Amino acid sequence: MAEGRRIVLGVTGGVAAYKAAYLARRLIERECTVRVVMTESAQEFIGSATFAAITGREPVTTLFGSEDVSPHTTLGQWADAIIIAPATASTISKLAAGQTSDALVATVLASRAPVVIAPAMHTEMWDQPATVANIDRLRAYGYKIVEPEVGALAGGDVGLGRLADPEAILDAVDGVFPVRDMDALRVLVTAGGTREPLDPVRYIGNRSSGKMGNALAEVAAERGAEVLLVTAADPPDRSGVEIDRVDTADEMAASVWGRASEYDVVVMAAAVADFKPRITESGKIRRADGAPTIDLEPTPDVLRGVRGMSPRPFLVGFAAETGSLEGAAAKAREKDVDLLVANDVTTPGAGFGSDTNKVRFVFRDGSTEDLDLLPKREVASMIWDTVLRLREES
Ligand code: CTP
Repeated sequence: MAEGRRIVLGVTGGVAAYKAAYLARRLIERECTVRVVMTESAQEFIGSATFAAITGREPVTTLFGSEDVSPHTTLGQWADAIIIAPATASTISKLAAGQTSDALVATVLASRAPVVIAPAMHTEMWDQPATVANIDRLRAYGYKIVEPEVGALAGGDVGLGRLADPEAILDAVDGVFPVRDMDALRVLVTAGGTREPLDPVRYIGNRSSGKMGNALAEVAAERGAEVLLVTAADPPDRSGVEIDRVDTADEMAASVWGRASEYDVVVMAAAVADFKPRITESGKIRRADGAPTIDLEPTPDVLRGVRGMSPRPFLVGFAAETGSLEGAAAKAREKDVDLLVANDVTTPGAGFGSDTNKVRFVFRDGSTEDLDLLPKREVASMIWDTVLRLREES
């Protein structure tokens, strides 16, 4: 929720700039501290005195000449979130290019805070390929776009491009502050693809990048959970997640089996090798010795070991399938998991290494729910929402 947060409100030059004053008022009602940054053209549409009166502070209108020698870095570092409403095509284009020619774009670039952008412009401008590409780029940067609506535009025109309703913008701002609904929960997440050594330089591995497991760990930590990530991939760069870095299926099994009983939920997002070389050569296998025959043996089934524990943590399995998810329900039954998250790794955008995923939830009763193609963080959020709901129902 946005309550009590420090918000930078960026106002750019469009007829909807007057609505930004209402937005500022609504934020103040929610006990936010609001600092306004106006572009030069915004000042053609609304006076800075309006915002000064609402927020109790003079808006920042220029990078130079104020008491603060570096207003963009001061505000960028201070902000819990930045809202730009209305956002013109020009400001959107500057943001997409990272071009810091005014105080507002400079503030966004000098900040690590989440950014919510509410565009407003004529339909023709919104539909321009340049604007479409810029908006796509901002989405890829992680900015939240609150799409414009159909309505009255400047000059008496009507069409798509009117600033979204201020309440919809406020909802989007709420959405960037994660709810701490996992405060009392301890979760263990596995991630990455294990590597089974053939010799000191070679291994049998798989294409898993660890991104899905990392997203699960990060989102759970943001929502307040105590998180252990047992990973065979590069871990996320954030505090609040305990990391146990492993390589092989045996190491993953030892780590997970040693710790799982301390946890309320175990999510097995790792792509664990099913087989490993029976022998790991101590020296490099030489080409001159001819093509080797590699004898394989099964690895431990990590998930099965957790399933047999008492008390048993709430157990989420993953199923990486190719071509069809028809077998997922049988796998969920066979694995006896509380929730199975299945994906077809051959679907564009859902494969290993991708930042997005398209998954199917398979529940204990065999029912399923198909999610859209979403960023892995959003998939992670929906997995945790579902875990919380199922635990409450059980
Ligand atoms: N898994 C595990 N230990 C293994 C292999 C897999 O714990 N040795 C876990 C994975 O982390 C995943 C689930 O089991 O949560 C399903 O993995 P998957 O590879 O889809 O299933 P398998 O049982 O290995 O079946 P198959 O590869 O034949 O489809």
